[in-house]
Amino acid sequence: MIGNAPYSPYTDVPGWLETDEEDTLIEYAKTVPEGGVIVNVGVEFGRSMAAFVKYAPTATVYGIEINPLDAYSANLTEAANCRQFERQGDARSTEEETAQQSY
Ligand SMILES: C[S@@+](CC[C@H](N)C(=O)[O-])C[C@H]1O[C@@H](n2cnc3c(N)ncnc32)[C@H](O)[C@@H]1O
Repeated sequence: MIGNAPYSPYTDVPGWLETDEEDTLIEYAKTVPEGGVIVNVGVEFGRSMAAFVKYAPTATVYGIEINPLDAYSANLTEAANCRQFERQGDARSTEEETAQQSY
């Protein structure tokens, strides 16, 4: 996985989402009806996205990110729970992004 943030105990995807916040997202994900849709605004490394994919197993999960990075899709592809992944739009390379990150 790529990302200099704590890793999820549920999906192993890194992110700044706190684990108690992730617990709340997981509870919401479990309430999504069969074949439902989730829109995750602000994907970053993919931690919340991976939780939605894992705990809403029949949902279509859309992720929207204003500053997309190759790492996002690499993490989601690598996450064992990622059923099927398709990326649309442009992304900066991980090298470009790493060079610009200040944290
Ligand atoms: C705190 S991070 C998201 C954390 C992520 N959900 C996780 O679970 O680790 C916030 C993200 O939202 C993105 N963002 C901020 N404003 C946005 C917008 N208007 N549309 C889409 N993404 C946005 C930022 O680029 C950043 O990657």
